[in-house]
Amino acid sequence: MRELIPVPRICESGTGRLAISAHTTIAVEGAEPHRLRDAAAIMRRVIVRLTGIPLALQPAADVSAADIVLSCGAPTPELPPLDMEEGYELSVTPAGATITADTLFGVARGLATFVQLVTQDAEGWYLPACRVEDAPRLAWRGLLLDVARHWIPANLIHLTLEALALAKLNVLHLHLTDDQAFRFESHRHPGLHENNADGFWFTQDELRAIVEHAAALGIRVVPELDVPGHTTSWLVAMPELGVAGVAPEPRRRFGIADCALDPASDRVLEVIDDLVGELTHVFPDPCLHIGGDEVAESAWDGDRTSLQADFNLKLGEILAAHGRRMVGWDEILHPDLPADTIVQSWRSPLSMWEAARAGHDVVLSHPWYLDHLYPARLLHAYDPLASPVEFETANSLVLDDPGTAPVAHLVRGWQGLFGNLTAAEPAGEAGTTHILGGEACMWAEHVTEENLSQRLWPRLAAFAEVLWSEPESRAGALDLSRRLDRFGSRLRIVGVDPVADRSVMLARIADDDDDLADALRILGDACEPIRFYGRLLPSALGAATFTQPPDRNPPGFQYTADTPLNRMVDCTPVESSTARSLRSDPADAVGIAHAWKAAARTITSRGAGVALVEEVIPLATDIGRLAGLLEELARGRVPAGAQSLLDAAAVPCAELRLAVVDPIRELVTEAG
Ligand code: ACM
Repeated sequence: MRELIPVPRICESGTGRLAISAHTTIAVEGAEPHRLRDAAAIMRRVIVRLTGIPLALQPAADVSAADIVLSCGAPTPELPPLDMEEGYELSVTPAGATITADTLFGVARGLATFVQLVTQDAEGWYLPACRVEDAPRLAWRGLLLDVARHWIPANLIHLTLEALALAKLNVLHLHLTDDQAFRFESHRHPGLHENNADGFWFTQDELRAIVEHAAALGIRVVPELDVPGHTTSWLVAMPELGVAGVAPEPRRRFGIADCALDPASDRVLEVIDDLVGELTHVFPDPCLHIGGDEVAESAWDGDRTSLQADFNLKLGEILAAHGRRMVGWDEILHPDLPADTIVQSWRSPLSMWEAARAGHDVVLSHPWYLDHLYPARLLHAYDPLASPVEFETANSLVLDDPGTAPVAHLVRGWQGLFGNLTAAEPAGEAGTTHILGGEACMWAEHVTEENLSQRLWPRLAAFAEVLWSEPESRAGALDLSRRLDRFGSRLRIVGVDPVADRSVMLARIADDDDDLADALRILGDACEPIRFYGRLLPSALGAATFTQPPDRNPPGFQYTADTPLNRMVDCTPVESSTARSLRSDPADAVGIAHAWKAAARTITSRGAGVALVEEVIPLATDIGRLAGLLEELARGRVPAGAQSLLDAAAVPCAELRLAVVDPIRELVTEAG
């Protein structure tokens, strides 16, 4: 039980185990028998994939003889509401297991726990006897997927939904439109989606299927039309929506564009009204996100803040007329904002506290930008209900983490832009009612369908735990990284497989040379991709504002939506597994050194002349040298020059950093 993530509220061990065999049967009882049976069928499929054992789903009437019983107390709405009831109880004894909940959404959460408990040992597959009583701490536990910057196909979104359910997350926020693309099929204004440079959009039927699948898993789908900024794709297709005389070119660059929808135009409001009407036919969720972030000061003549506040009032009327509650990024916060508007805080927790004090419900995203590539332990350090002092402590953890060092100047500069936590006024009492939860954001400037899963998982389960579990429940849990490893292996059974995705990318980088691909995997396992906006900010916002992080290769990557994301940095996991092994098992160092020497030889000899490998040859040379250092340390010696070798190897190269430098430094310090 100690391996569960998110950890349940109450979890008591029992005596014995429930064996899973070909004779194990599942049955359902109570309200919603048909939908419950669908849930049981999904559970059966997952357990069959996990164990290979074809357990049987019983006919409806046959509960008493069943080994596993799912029971729903009351009729459950077809669509998960914002305040969905997700509590459940799970009991496992040698005689059988029951999952009991008031709603199907609770049953779904109980199934997620059940699947994590299925275990194997010498005697076969089983569940340990236990009793779990569980319910979420916060109501809004979401993932934003940016499907605009790079295309993410519907089948991958379906797989991602199953993975979200396994982590007990309950909101999928689809960022459908941005400067680079408009992904919603509009029957009223087809020019919007037909203009996409990559030719991709979701049909309304595809989106309906996503909503339906999500609802069956107890996941809400919140669509976002980002207006009035981030709208170059709209303006290219419909220049009449812009400020007179501004006709932008298609935008493939990232960052903030100079243009925006004309806030004073009736035509703009008509088109938004049309689109909201179409969206409400596809997305039944009561919330609709209108974006509202990052309108360039230069986009309009006049005071941007008051122009946008007036525009938001009109948007609020349109949404209300369509029966939708407005959600927007924290820039929309203004005294005139309709009271029921939900504010999503992305730049700092200050806006969360300010919005809550002003009576708005709020969702926190600021610390959970997955594209910043912070490791799970740092995502886990934040909490929407934390005090300003606790936020500062978490911020210091991020800033002081050695992996942040190459971009610490960028992180500090960014934090400084949005106010001072030391002087912050927290939400106080308002926080307990208005802080709904959080949303992790997967912005996709550097994400494609090939690397999406490894950028999401298993880290996202650490974020899920913050929102689901009471902090005090975590006391008896296993180490976070071990629980995430296990969660990652469970994901494979729903078809989310970051390891396989990485293999495809490595094989391509190595030009199908298997030995070279293996060597690159060993090198990648020692590295981590550069964090924060290290790849993006200087090229998007200009080096005058943000200096480029150090890199041993020539700088100058100007990322656009057309830049190939096919490099080592794009398929290197967020957290170095070898850095972790060196810390947890320093005795493995000699074996690691051996593997590094061989990998360094292969990469330097066979990688020269292979375009995508050349840029990482300096890193391969480094792990060859670090291997020598590890061998010396194993003999009890600290060679002269160890520090300068480590300092040199710590400088990023090809937007990767050798994360193993940090545990080796610790070994050197201990040995010295
Ligand atoms: C955002 O990241 N611009 C919401």
